[in-house]
Amino acid sequence: MGRLDGKVALITGGGGGIGRATAIRFAEEGATVVVTDIDISLGDESAKLAKEAAGNAGGDAVFMEMDVTDHDSVRSVISETVNRFGKLNVLHNNAGGSTMQDGPVTEAPDEEFWRVIKLDLFGTFVCSKHGIPAIVEAGGGSVINMSSNVALMALPGRDCYTAAKGGVASMTRSMAVEYAPNKIRVNAIAPSVTLSDRVKKLVQESPEIAKISEQHLLGFGMPIHIANMAVYLASDESEITTGQILSVDSGVTIY
Ligand SMILES: NC(=O)c1ccc[n+]([C@@H]2O[C@H](COP(=O)([O-])OP(=O)(O)OC[C@H]3O[C@@H](n4cnc5c(N)ncnc54)[C@H](O)[C@@H]3O)[C@@H](O)[C@H]2O)c1
Repeated sequence: MGRLDGKVALITGGGGGIGRATAIRFAEEGATVVVTDIDISLGDESAKLAKEAAGNAGGDAVFMEMDVTDHDSVRSVISETVNRFGKLNVLHNNAGGSTMQDGPVTEAPDEEFWRVIKLDLFGTFVCSKHGIPAIVEAGGGSVINMSSNVALMALPGRDCYTAAKGGVASMTRSMAVEYAPNKIRVNAIAPSVTLSDRVKKLVQESPEIAKISEQHLLGFGMPIHIANMAVYLASDESEITTGQILSVDSGVTIY
């Protein structure tokens, strides 16, 4: 018996490191997973891997191309999901990430500020706008946003990303209150450094990120660690967990 048997889950940015690990874990636990990404080949590969991982567990996975910043794209993928699979129970707003163009506020370019605000914060807003009505229709479920430890502690040199992830954390709390009457839980995961391929490169290129490895009490995270938290939040086990920013961060926020 899978922990997500019978659930239909949509993951944004599902072609990336954390999204892929989550798609695989969701499918292994019996969910039907709609892997979405702006990158067709990465997203398609994740859906294939998740489908394989599901084996005979009852889970399944498909890929649908989607840009989280585009209302039409999101609206059409949500409606295709409901048409094909009958409902939506779980929305994982995962697409996002920082770049080497970020920096202190006096140095970071405006373009990087608006890029990350548009992708991480506005993308979460757009997908929630179109996804939540489908979850209401299903009788309730779970929205899993992606924040970061930078919403909870200072990380010098990442002021654009910090602003976006702080916004995601704040919006998570108000959404939790707004949709509780519809039996929808809204939480965010706050990972610290997690070694997806993109972040491995950032760590190599950025001395200030590499330096904080000493503060990760159990070492840097791997995508599977974040995926396992997402399984909990997607499952009925998290029945009364809502409005929380759940750190999966190797203790970095307490040290
Ligand atoms: N890896 C970390 O250290 C870390 C730490 C804290 C938070 N996070 C957050 O976790 C999430 C996933 O991170 P990751 O390391 O797996 O990133 P990643 O770069 O490996 O994956 C991100 C995915 O998002 C997709 N994407 C980009 N723009 C998109 C758009 N407009 N619409 C749809 N998809 C789009 C990319 O194609 C990519 O597949 C992000 O929100 C990131 O900010 C990551």
